[in-house]
Parts: sequence; C-alpha cells; structure tokens
Amino acid sequence: MDVAPAPIPRPLTDGRLVDGQGRAIRYLRISVTDRCDLRCRYCMAEEMTFLPRSALLALEEIALIAERFVARGVTKIRLTGGEPLVRRDAMDLARRLGRMVGAGLDELTLTTNGTRLADHAQALADAGVQRINVSLDSRDPELFRFVTRHGDVAQVLNGIEAARAAGLRVKINMVALKGLNDAEIPAMLDWAAQEDMDLTLIETMPLGRIEGDRADRFVPLTTVLDALRQRFDLAPDRHDSGGPARYWRVGGSGTRLGLISPLTGNFCATCNRVRLTTEGKLYSCLGHDDHVDLRAAIRDGGLAAVDEAIDAALGAKPARHEFDVTRGAGPAVARHMSVTGG
Ligand code: 5AD
Ligand code: SF4
Repeated sequence: MDVAPAPIPRPLTDGRLVDGQGRAIRYLRISVTDRCDLRCRYCMAEEMTFLPRSALLALEEIALIAERFVARGVTKIRLTGGEPLVRRDAMDLARRLGRMVGAGLDELTLTTNGTRLADHAQALADAGVQRINVSLDSRDPELFRFVTRHGDVAQVLNGIEAARAAGLRVKINMVALKGLNDAEIPAMLDWAAQEDMDLTLIETMPLGRIEGDRADRFVPLTTVLDALRQRFDLAPDRHDSGGPARYWRVGGSGTRLGLISPLTGNFCATCNRVRLTTEGKLYSCLGHDDHVDLRAAIRDGGLAAVDEAIDAALGAKPARHEFDVTRGAGPAVARHMSVTGG
C-alpha cells in the first residue's frame, strides 16, 4: 500500500501576502516622517503635535521590514510622509531600498510636496526611482500660499523641473477644493498635457482634525469629470494600479488623468496595499484604526515576530473604509493623512 508522503510543513514566513478578504497585497507605503514643511489646510491643523524623534523607527528597522515585505511578495514601495524629504536620512533609505529594484521590487516611488525636490531629484533617479508623485494643488502663487499656509509654489515648480531633467516621470496630485482650486482644474490638466505629466485629482478625505469642516470644501469628482468631458477628449484607460484611482487618457496627449474618489466611487474591493508609519505601526486600511506594532515586533522578536504581526494585520484588513464628508460628520479616524501618507 502506498503511503502518501507527509506534507512538508510550509513555514508561515514563506507565505505570500493575502488578506482576510482574499486580496493579494503587493504594495507597501512607508511614511518616513509625520512632519512636513507645509500645512495644507485640508491635511493638517495649523498647530500640530508631531511624534517625538525617539518614537521613530531607525532607518535600519524600516529597511529590514521593507525587505521582509519584498521577500513575501510586495513588488512596489512608495516613500511618503508627511514630507519624506524633510527626514535627514530619507535619501539613504531610498538608496538602500533602491537596491531591491529589479531584484524582487518592480518599483520604488515617492510622494513629495516638491519643496526640496530640486536638491534630491538626481539622487532619487540614481537610487532607482523612476516615477514620483508631486502634490500641487494650485500653480497660482497666492492660492498655493493660502492652501499650504506659507508655501512658495516656485520651489515646487523648480523641483518638478529638476525631477524631469533627472529623467523622473512626474504625476501631479491635486486635491479638489471647492471655492479654492476647483476652477483651476481644467488649466491644470491643460498644463499637465502640455508638459507630458499625469494628473490625479483627489477628493478630500476625513482624516484627522483640521480647522473648519471638510464638507465646506468637498468637491465630488463625478461633477468635475462631467465638466472636464465638455472640454477634453477623455477615454477610459485600463491601467489599474490596484488602487483607488480610475484613469482616463487625455486625447492628443500622453497624459493620463486619474480620479481618486473614495467618497463618490469606492474601489476598496481591489485594494492591494498596506501602510507603515514612521512609528512602526502597520495600518491595513487608511480609514480604520486597526493596526499592528511592527516596532515592538522587530525589537522584541525579530523578523519572525514581524511576520506574525503582518499576518495578523492582513487577517484583520477591513473590507472598506466608511468615509463620510457630510457636514458635521467629523473625521473618520483621528490620525491625519500625514501619519500614513495617503
Ligand atoms: N484628503 C485627501 N487628500 C489628502 N492629502 C493629504 N491630506 C488629505 C486629505 N485629508 C493628499 C496630499 C497628497 C496625497 C498624499 O494626499 O495632497 O497629494
Ligand atoms: Fe504636507 Fe502633504 Fe499634508 Fe500638505 S498635504 S501639509 S504637503 S503632508
């Protein structure tokens, strides 16, 4: 009688990353600092309490965790903040993670507000970064200053130029804000098309307390799209980042228009990402407080404990966010976007 060989136990740590809803997780976003040199009104309050430096993961810890994620099947990493380039060793981290590009990692990218981009663009390209997202809510100097509370748009535009000169592909992120920059959206798309950049519009999300009610500035992107269709030839694009964006090709250009509309169109069903904060908390959803503590895991139990914590986080990843931007609803979660980096 044949005896079936005993199954070889497969260590948990070789397991690919699949969440409790069956979604494969391939994308890790790492917030390297919760600090920022701007104070965008929809993102932050004027007075913010940032994490004490002693609470932060060391570069080496971030790198070890990121490498573990790549070993387990993550193919894309984005460095975010806050503003990632205000952290002193951010470029060292980019260089370290850049070594995995082509060796497990398909893409290392960055989301930045652009204020320090001119100084770092070439180093980013040298580190293996090919595409970046730059947040730019207005090209008008006064409006930019108002929205960011003190920013200088010329710095950001210089940064974008430097990035493109270094060979980086740039995507502009623009949060649509009623009565502030909504009238500027067609001009921003014209500019992006002219400059061969992509543009992604974002609905304001109820993350963390700010002055005022986000409902007052909320613009549903469904209406923006209807208006843009009158002026631009927009064809749906198949491109799927597994993320919350929907894409359109802008006729007569190589530009892609993306819409991140968590309020008017929910795409959580295809979510492929998790988020690591600068404190080492791993959030499985932008809109929920559930998280695991990878800082404690790596310090107390090493990579085996990190694996276990990651599995716990994925098992508990919520099916979807429950954002509500109606007047008086308040933030869905207390932490600001700058903690998890969007
Ligand atoms: N809602 C929507 N977008 C936000 N961002 C920051 N805070 C919010 C918010 N509350 C944007 C930034 C940046 C991206 C990472 O997230 O402008 O482009
Ligand atoms: Fe800083 Fe980005 Fe928040 Fe603006 S939106 S305050 S640039 S983290």
